[in-house]
Amino acid sequence: MINEFEIKKQICEIGKRIYDKGMVASNDGNISVKINDNEFLCTPTGVSKGFMTPEFICKVDRDGKVIQANPGFKPSSEIKMHMRVYKERPDVNAVVHAHPMYATGFAIAGIPLTQPIMPEAVIALGCVPIAEYGTPSTEEIPDAVSKYLQSFDAVLLENHGALSFSDSLLSAYHKMESVEFYAKLLYISKQLGGPKELSDKQVQRLYEIRRQFGMKGKHPADLCPNAKDGKPSCHGCGGNCSHHSDADLVAEITRRVIEQLGK
Ligand code: 13P
Repeated sequence: MINEFEIKKQICEIGKRIYDKGMVASNDGNISVKINDNEFLCTPTGVSKGFMTPEFICKVDRDGKVIQANPGFKPSSEIKMHMRVYKERPDVNAVVHAHPMYATGFAIAGIPLTQPIMPEAVIALGCVPIAEYGTPSTEEIPDAVSKYLQSFDAVLLENHGALSFSDSLLSAYHKMESVEFYAKLLYISKQLGGPKELSDKQVQRLYEIRRQFGMKGKHPADLCPNAKDGKPSCHGCGGNCSHHSDADLVAEITRRVIEQLGK
């Protein structure tokens, strides 16, 4: 089993990567890693995540309370958001929060990443919904994110940034990279006249490949109730397919009927 000092070094390394890649500015972003059910390492609040050394890293319990922190360091102000992910997703061992330029642009414009435009993004992420805006550091963000935790491994945070989580720190970081890459490609293709989307059939074949690979994590291919029922999957329903209430469904059907009548 890898020792805590090594994990702290890895957190610093990933912090440097998100900073060097421009996924965060100044002191933005935060990272955490689960050590066991009641011990978690996390980045401190208010420091540049690009210039951390292992003694910066704090240890908290499952409620986000400090177990150990060196003088001058306090856990991330967003620790509640991280803890909610661990609480509701026992398979998750690491969480990364950043403000990557393109993904955050989509989060600010209120556009979820739901258009199927390239195989890798479809296989790795499915689609990326937007969790409703919440005030940083309050329970509002954990509450908003909670809705999406059982169906996705990455979400955009409305008017804020992006959150990714996985079974390892490297994998959680890679998901953040994938989100940003997907957002950038979507943005560019919109400038070039709009993306030519993959067809439903092509998306379903990619979902099938993901199932065959037995890839870990939550993904619409495995979980979307629509996909399971053989209906159009997440990519066709705006990234919210896991939480359609009856009222949502009626509203959506009404919208589609009106659309058809107008043709
Ligand atoms: P912390 O430095 O407190 O982790 O906050 C950074 C941030 O990006 C808040 O959204």
